[in-house]
Amino acid sequence: MRHSSLVVVANRLPIDDSIAPDGACEWRRTPGGLVSALHPLLRHTPATWVGWAGGTGPAPTLPDVDGVHMRAVPLTAEDLRDHYEGFANSTLWPLYHDAVEQPEHHRRWWEAYQRVNRRFAEAAAEVAEPGAVVWVQDYHLHLLPGLLRAMRPDLRIGFFLHVPFPPPELFMQLPRRAELLRGMLGADLIGFQRVQAAHNFAQLVAKVLSLPATDRRIGVDGRVVRIGAFPVSIDTAEMAALAARPDVAARAQRLRQDLGRPERVILSVDRMDYTKGIEQRLKAYSELLASGHVKVRDTVLVQVAVPSRERVGQYQILRERVEREVGRINGEFGRVGEPAIHYLTQPFDRAELAALYRVADVMAVTPLRDGMNLVAKEYVAARVDDSGALLLSEFAGTAAELSQAYLVNPHDLEGLKEGLLAALHAAPADVSRRMRAMRAHLHEHDIRAWARSYLSALDETGPLVQRLVTATDAAPATVPGQPDRSAARIEHPSGG
Ligand code: ADP
Ligand code: G6P
Repeated sequence: MRHSSLVVVANRLPIDDSIAPDGACEWRRTPGGLVSALHPLLRHTPATWVGWAGGTGPAPTLPDVDGVHMRAVPLTAEDLRDHYEGFANSTLWPLYHDAVEQPEHHRRWWEAYQRVNRRFAEAAAEVAEPGAVVWVQDYHLHLLPGLLRAMRPDLRIGFFLHVPFPPPELFMQLPRRAELLRGMLGADLIGFQRVQAAHNFAQLVAKVLSLPATDRRIGVDGRVVRIGAFPVSIDTAEMAALAARPDVAARAQRLRQDLGRPERVILSVDRMDYTKGIEQRLKAYSELLASGHVKVRDTVLVQVAVPSRERVGQYQILRERVEREVGRINGEFGRVGEPAIHYLTQPFDRAELAALYRVADVMAVTPLRDGMNLVAKEYVAARVDDSGALLLSEFAGTAAELSQAYLVNPHDLEGLKEGLLAALHAAPADVSRRMRAMRAHLHEHDIRAWARSYLSALDETGPLVQRLVTATDAAPATVPGQPDRSAARIEHPSGG
């Protein structure tokens, strides 16, 4: 058993299994903001990542990935249904995103949530060396800090929520609200994406648990728990270096050719999720086509929507509706060889994503609610020549930082159409002035700055921050052509 002084616990490991043509298991990074943020940060750091490897059944024994020890936690088919698809993604996820879809409540899901949190806590307790820092991530694991503190009071425990934390009116709907808050308070430091989220949390703790709480500190069981906003970011330099590579620039040129050399390319890249505002965006685009404000030959929309949480009913319905609408728009406005929308559902490697970002004159990031939205930050980082207009929803956490974007309210269809036209027709000087300001911001506020500020707040006295930052600064560049893939043979205890 390997022990670590830094343990990250997240529902997902930064890999996902799929079967390669020769029958070997290939492990790849799945799309999603949490893994995108933490993977470049932890690479080549002596740490253990505790998480789920995808699939059900016994946990596989995993090779280290980029020097990080991977400790898989098994999920049964029932856990997958009731914890991951149920409580995490059909109760908490919609509730935390303004209830844009109806949250569901089932007692069986709560039992699974407790059971799985306990299993993750036991795994973390096993691999953490005495006095280690354990950094717990996201809404799947609210109970873990409390459970872990009871098992291992010697640990320094951090919790970070990547998604929005809702206002009291919404959170109060949860039948087990008190337990969830108590679970989080097992941490020494609770980080949120936005100041408003920390404020919501403090209000709830005071109201539900009657504990003394400000937006910075909460007193519980004779301890002080600190809370605050730490907006997550990306590896800005890495994305910029990737986008500047000659092969990526050449790929971007080829993409423009393949798209029929339009005057304007609009791009959207989302997980297929009802929080991302995909349907509203398609409606706005379709109305602009119908009114003649946008013409297919001059402008194309590339919509990348990689399927996500595919067994959850709300996600299945969304996919069907999006695909029907894309089909309708293409049928109505496309021509032979000239579709109005290029619709892609595949996961791409980082170089292909960078080429897509480089070809996009307008990047439309218009979620109805989003904790942060790293796609918007990746686009800005990739615009190495300071061109490109970012159309950004006011309801993305990113908007608090990238205020020079063309901001829109995605619930306001007319406003969305106007914003899209403004971004399409903006003067190049205005576009690059805005882009320069956003790039300067991201240059400073990158993923290392995020880790530094969070971990120095968590581990005020320890040498952890220094070690982590030194290790990631010294990390070798990614392998050309295969930026983020780790292929390895895995031993499955079941042989499967
Ligand atoms: P969320 O965490 O809700 O998925 P974010 O925008 O914060 O939203 O993060 C999404 C991450 O997933 C980004 O790093 C983005 O590059 C990645 N991603 C999205 N779509 C794809 C895709 N088709 N292929 C590869 N990576 C993707
Ligand atoms: C968001 C969540 C992450 C999650 C990711 C992908 O970024 O905050 O915790 O990992 O979406 O979702 P998935 O369900 O595929 O892990």
